[in-house]
Amino acid sequence: MPAIVLIGAQWGDEGKGKVTDLLGDRVKYVVRYQGGNNAGHTVVVGDEHYALHVLPSGVISPEVIPVIGNGVVIDPKVLLEEIDGLESRGVSCEKLLISANAHLIMPYHRALDKVSERFLGKAKIGTTGRGIGPTYGDKVARTGIRIQDLFDPGILEQKLELALRDKNQLLTKVYNRRAIEAKRIAEEYSTYAERLKPYVADTGLILDQALKNDVNVLLEGAQGSLLDVDHGTYPFVTSSNPTAGGAAVGSGVGPTKITKVIGIIKAYTTRVGSGPFPTELLDDQGEWLRKAGGEFGVTTGRPRRCGWFDAVIARYATRVNGVTDYCVTKLDVLSGLDKIPVCVAYEVDGKKHDEIPMTQTDFHHAKPVYEYLDGWSEDISGARTFGDLPKKAQTYVKTIEEMSGAQVSAIGVGPRRDQTLQLRPFL
Ligand code: IMP
Repeated sequence: MPAIVLIGAQWGDEGKGKVTDLLGDRVKYVVRYQGGNNAGHTVVVGDEHYALHVLPSGVISPEVIPVIGNGVVIDPKVLLEEIDGLESRGVSCEKLLISANAHLIMPYHRALDKVSERFLGKAKIGTTGRGIGPTYGDKVARTGIRIQDLFDPGILEQKLELALRDKNQLLTKVYNRRAIEAKRIAEEYSTYAERLKPYVADTGLILDQALKNDVNVLLEGAQGSLLDVDHGTYPFVTSSNPTAGGAAVGSGVGPTKITKVIGIIKAYTTRVGSGPFPTELLDDQGEWLRKAGGEFGVTTGRPRRCGWFDAVIARYATRVNGVTDYCVTKLDVLSGLDKIPVCVAYEVDGKKHDEIPMTQTDFHHAKPVYEYLDGWSEDISGARTFGDLPKKAQTYVKTIEEMSGAQVSAIGVGPRRDQTLQLRPFL
């Protein structure tokens, strides 16, 4: 049985949680493979809204075993609060598995994230301030602290002492903050150790055994392809690999086991934080899209930047992820427009580009070249099949499908579970 990857094809917030939830009864394991509590998935079941940050969205489906893979960075306090919050609403988290190799977000990571952004001034990345970048930085520098370190108090304190040697120099001498005591963190984190222990496992091994036993595994990305530290709009990116390649690394599932990559793509584009965004609308139309689409961050509540669909980005996402199927989300938001602009290429200093320009400088200068598709006026939130959509909405989907270079297999017309039109099964 296959491992399937689910990725965001734009700058995140495409509605991945909904598709994971839809696949819920056909997959046994849902695995987060990167990112941390910078993410925000909203899952709507009936009238209940669940905002998840660290836990995989599959946690809402009772049959699913949710897994936090080795590639995720975990703020244990936030994770435990999320577990408690769900359990108090009757959602059991007892099947949750957490990789012993996942890295821990520490108080100094959060402090450094905030203070370094402040120091960047106008050049700031617009991070979520959750300590994500500094935690991945330590992981790569080999000074990170992992979940498994919580279970050896001597090692934990030793590693903390080492990490704090230079962190405290930075905090006190560069950023004028107070030093952090290793002992204090060790005490706080050892309280989390007790509670986390039952969930911790060799998740790579468990997933391999599941795949050998013909069980479906869904590897769920957070953020989006254009926020990927290698393939995104660097440096305005997150510090991990949300693209499909990251799924193998961040879960321990070998790449040859992955048979499908489902891309989630909004019918228009949004972005949070700084960085280039060629189709961004800074006028009333942007405001209209933000309102119509409810485009405010699940994690930070920040208003999202909004713009038209960008087929250049979509084509790029198809390529770097090897997307096999798309789910177009929020098509209903576009109802009521006479014409809908779709970006088909860029113009950079008088030259046309069909692909994302090679350099950051050129991408910052990219101006969208638009084609104008016919809009529709009908409310489509009650559509349940492709045939229920007005002809012009069907043409819009078919056109962006052709431009993106991968088949559209599902379309979202509203936030509820039953508001997704399935053109063909994912599994
Ligand atoms: P960080 O991941 O907090 O370091 O933030 C880096 C960039 O990624 C910023 O522009 C954030 O706004 C963006 N980002 C991080 N997580 C998400 C997400 O889940 N959705 C959208 N943008 C995100």
